[in-house]
Amino acid sequence: MNHFLKLLDHSCDEITALLNLADQLKYENKHNIPHHHLAGKTLAMIFTKSSTRTRVSFETGMYQLGGFPMFLSGNDLQLGRGEPIADTARVLSRYVNGIMIRTFKQQDVEDLATYGSIPIINGLTDFAHPCQVLADLMTIREHKGRLDGIKLCYIGDGNNMANSLIVGGLKTGMKVSIGTPKAYQPDKTVLDFAEGNPNFTLTDDIFEAAADADVIYTDVWASMGQEGEAEERKKVFKGYHVGRELVAVAKPDVMLQHCLPAHRGEEISDEMFEAHANEIFDEAENRLHAQKAVLLTLMNPDAIR
Ligand code: CP
Ligand code: NVA
Repeated sequence: MNHFLKLLDHSCDEITALLNLADQLKYENKHNIPHHHLAGKTLAMIFTKSSTRTRVSFETGMYQLGGFPMFLSGNDLQLGRGEPIADTARVLSRYVNGIMIRTFKQQDVEDLATYGSIPIINGLTDFAHPCQVLADLMTIREHKGRLDGIKLCYIGDGNNMANSLIVGGLKTGMKVSIGTPKAYQPDKTVLDFAEGNPNFTLTDDIFEAAADADVIYTDVWASMGQEGEAEERKKVFKGYHVGRELVAVAKPDVMLQHCLPAHRGEEISDEMFEAHANEIFDEAENRLHAQKAVLLTLMNPDAIR
């Protein structure tokens, strides 16, 4: 594995290996077993969008692995003044050992990988959020004991989360059902990937999507960069809400997941959020362990052989 740009690039075996390593790193973390496998290595972390979880979990994860995390705000870099991604990639490759980037265009992340000579990690784009979905799969596997055959239902906008959940879920043998308005479906590349897979369903009926689900997942109606559409989206997505009535049609032991930040009263009710807070904050915690697995696999694969 050279980069972690989107789950479409990775096989079920690669994803499973990352999940197994994440479990091991979580165990070592909980038992204070040192794992400084990235001593002397630096990770540049470029953010052109806000973040709480991604920034703090990558920064802490690098520290726990014995390496150095370098936070770089897109606005402060020359990138913000128009220096090309291709040049930024080639310059940073001379200084640091890996780059994590959160930005708008998926193409920018792909270009970093093309022009740089070090591992690149996607910390969220408009298209994908692979680090989040790795943590989601880890959490679902922890709670349900397996992924194969587990029904994952996503309700809401066909955004970066929906795209990555479809790919990650189907690749690991899950049944994935998506409930989105017709005009806000997931990306065409992802729908093409899922087409014909008997484990995939797409509907605008949220009750149909959530029927007998083992996991219900949701995300905000307006993602970062869509703030100008927020009022219009509130009208479109009004019925795409995870509340008591929807949860009642899922399996009795259904778990709820949310990548966070959550907008209570919009995509999820306060009642359902709090009833499933333990699962949701396990998911947030697992960002740390899952990303450490990605960092180690990319930046020091010899340590895990
Ligand atoms: N879920 C997630 O990526 O959170 P942040 O935006 O806080 O990083
Ligand atoms: N879809 C959301 C996810 C945030 C983690 C966004 O892109 O803002």
